[in-house]
Amino acid sequence: MKKYLILLAVPLFLIGCTGDQQKKEKSTQAKVIPQAEKDLLSKAQMFFKVLPTEAVNPENPLTEAKVKLGKILYYDNRLSKDETQSCNTCHNLATYGVDNLPTSPGDNGIPGTRNSPTVLNAAFKTAQFWDGRNKDVEEQAGGPILNPAEMAIPHEQFLLDRLKKTELYPPLFTAAYPGEENPFTYKNVRFAIAAFERILITPSKFDDYLANNIDALNEQEKKGLKTFMDVGCIACHTGNVLGGTMLQKFPLFGEYRDYIPEGKIDYGKFEDTKVEADKFMFFVPLLRNVEKTAPYFHDGSIVDLGESIRIMGKSELNKDLSDEQVNDIVTFMKTLTGEVATDWQIVPEELN
Ligand code: HEC
Ligand code: HEC
Repeated sequence: MKKYLILLAVPLFLIGCTGDQQKKEKSTQAKVIPQAEKDLLSKAQMFFKVLPTEAVNPENPLTEAKVKLGKILYYDNRLSKDETQSCNTCHNLATYGVDNLPTSPGDNGIPGTRNSPTVLNAAFKTAQFWDGRNKDVEEQAGGPILNPAEMAIPHEQFLLDRLKKTELYPPLFTAAYPGEENPFTYKNVRFAIAAFERILITPSKFDDYLANNIDALNEQEKKGLKTFMDVGCIACHTGNVLGGTMLQKFPLFGEYRDYIPEGKIDYGKFEDTKVEADKFMFFVPLLRNVEKTAPYFHDGSIVDLGESIRIMGKSELNKDLSDEQVNDIVTFMKTLTGEVATDWQIVPEELN
């Protein structure tokens, strides 16, 4: 049966083609897309994916009440011991989910050792942190609150008691976790914050391009995309957020000190596991909004995006990129800048 359908379809297809051909010849204005342009788009579609509209975790279904609670917690200084900082202090949504500092001071005022990555689109990463030590944003959200170098809350119950005592939180927790006898659990805090993080998705014009709108990028942006793929950045920076899927060694070529001349040596995943094979293994960061998330690298030591690209060329690919290649890639990187919804940036009125 299938065979006949195909036999039928072929002549129809041919008729369709000749019809198109005639139409094309008639209208001189119709745009002919050069083969090289089509090839570039097909190749890009193989390595990158349109940013999904939802970042789903079946274990943490999003509801309006949970996202609302999560946003308030995200902005609440009460999540730090001395009530000096919130998640938004280091991951400021008014500045693309970062604080633009090399490293961020904690509740105690002392800077940590690693750069604050952006929370935008972070839910799409297959692991969290510079060394990928947490599996998702649900697990991650519990960390900074209890980290002595960050929000420094002494223990879980301390925070739960503090929140329970307020007028604000009891109805919010009940609404977010209906039917639960005691919704004030640390897990529920984590899951609500993560629910808010899951809506922080910023598509850009690169997504329009990947969705077959070949004119969404201009000539130089396409040239940059081509360079990014041709020189080999796609060995690590692929998928819907151009990274965030694997651990890799930094640096693969040369020594750590060739690229990070100052400060304490950061051994990457080894710092957490003490396993020799994990030395200098870092989780490949996402590149969405990278134009806005300076300074770069795990220690925030590089301010200029072009410089970080030049270093990547050398440290990961053993290539000396030319100024032209670097500039083209910078131009392409800017097409990954999306829009941060105004609503996310507004401090919840409940906290005023
Ligand atoms: C004092 C500054 C500071 C505060 C406050 C803070 N963070 Fe972070 N955050 C960091 C730093 C630094 C890292 C990277 C640490 C590492 O990789 O070892 C990080 C990593 C993350 C990541 C991983 C992103 C990625 O790309 O891997 C997420 C998500 C995140 N933080 C969310 C939060 C949330 C939610 C809160 C509030 C509960 C919070 N942070 C509070 C500084 C901070
Ligand atoms: C072998 C894997 C690999 C390749 C190939 C690679 N990168 Fe990276 N990239 C990484 C890792 C790992 C990091 C994190 C380095 C660190 O801070 O320790 C990183 C970091 C970056 C950063 C900094 C992001 C930030 O938020 O701090 C940029 C920008 C970047 N890469 C761009 C590129 C470009 C452009 C290329 C191609 C020239 C490239 N990368 C090739 C693995 C790779």
